[in-house]
Amino acid sequence: MRYRIARYALTLTMGIVLVSQAGATDMSDTAGNRARPRRILFDTDPGGDDVFALLWLQSLAKQGHAEIVAVTTVAGNVRSQHTFANACKTLALGGFGHIEVGRSVPVDEGGEDAAHIHGNDGMGNLSRTLPDPKHPLSEARRSDDIIIEKLSAVPGEITLIAVGPLTNLAAAEEKSPGILAKAKEVVIMGGAFRQGGNITPCAEFNIYCDPEAAQKVFTSRDDIVVLPLGITEKVTFTKEHANGVSQAVPESRIGRFIVDLWQFMAKTSMSYRSTDGIRGFHVHDATTLAYLFYPETLLLRRAEVRVETKGEWTRGQTVFDDRHGAKIEANAWVALQVDAGNLLAVMVEDFKLLVAPE
Ligand code: BDR
Ligand code: CA
Repeated sequence: MRYRIARYALTLTMGIVLVSQAGATDMSDTAGNRARPRRILFDTDPGGDDVFALLWLQSLAKQGHAEIVAVTTVAGNVRSQHTFANACKTLALGGFGHIEVGRSVPVDEGGEDAAHIHGNDGMGNLSRTLPDPKHPLSEARRSDDIIIEKLSAVPGEITLIAVGPLTNLAAAEEKSPGILAKAKEVVIMGGAFRQGGNITPCAEFNIYCDPEAAQKVFTSRDDIVVLPLGITEKVTFTKEHANGVSQAVPESRIGRFIVDLWQFMAKTSMSYRSTDGIRGFHVHDATTLAYLFYPETLLLRRAEVRVETKGEWTRGQTVFDDRHGAKIEANAWVALQVDAGNLLAVMVEDFKLLVAPE
């Protein structure tokens, strides 16, 4: 028999009670058998910080903590052909090239992207240094179809992590109503609550790219886990972190890649003055993995999250009610505090295990 343990933490901060329900975990059984790896479907738009998150996930899989069920890609930071290729290349680099990668559902790709931050290829212009994907985009299945297939096969078993625009998730819900409720948990990086945005004064990039999709996801179940800008912008990966990984195994190709990508991302982040003068870059998307595997680094609050889809100046803004009314209509857990030092420390140690030879 396995036990599902929900961890609760309480703290009092500036008069506000915050409740964390981070990281419900399958523990070992009474016979002492090891916990089953958490099964993860990772939806992403790589993207420099997506690549770091995907490398971390591979380390967790290598250690037996996670099982990567599939990776689904979406247009976002860069165009869809790049996000697909980047996911394939990152998986091959980490030793998980056999994992299925889905292609983005069709979207209008004429709008704004984030190539100015992540490089024209979305990978700091380093993608050419990695081998081409074994399977071309034209042969890949659609991401929404993969999400539907995997979640319906084992209801309540798979954790869906989404670190790009929520377009694929909403498309899956549209095609198969109720499908997102079949995930064990839905954990997203996105939104900005008590602070401004990073793509407009009000909106965070992932939500801004497709607010209607985000609204659909937030009405799909009542326990969406949200890692918003307020905490992700506190998690800055610095040169010391990057060097810590590469120096552990100097001959490692992954270690060198991490340093090279870090250099590009730190440079663009500095030019946009987004890191409070600290030379480094925000590993936004990696915080989803911290929530699942190192929940002691985060504090979450129960909330009713809504997405602004109409505002002339506020489209893509996420809002919650900060007042102390009964949370009858709550649909989410929103992370409001992070222990960034410890989060980065565990990430670096896990990276070292990824770069270490078998
Ligand atoms: C989010 O936007 C993207 O640029 C990043 O990859 C991250 O998912 C941060 O707002
Ligand atoms: Ca992303």
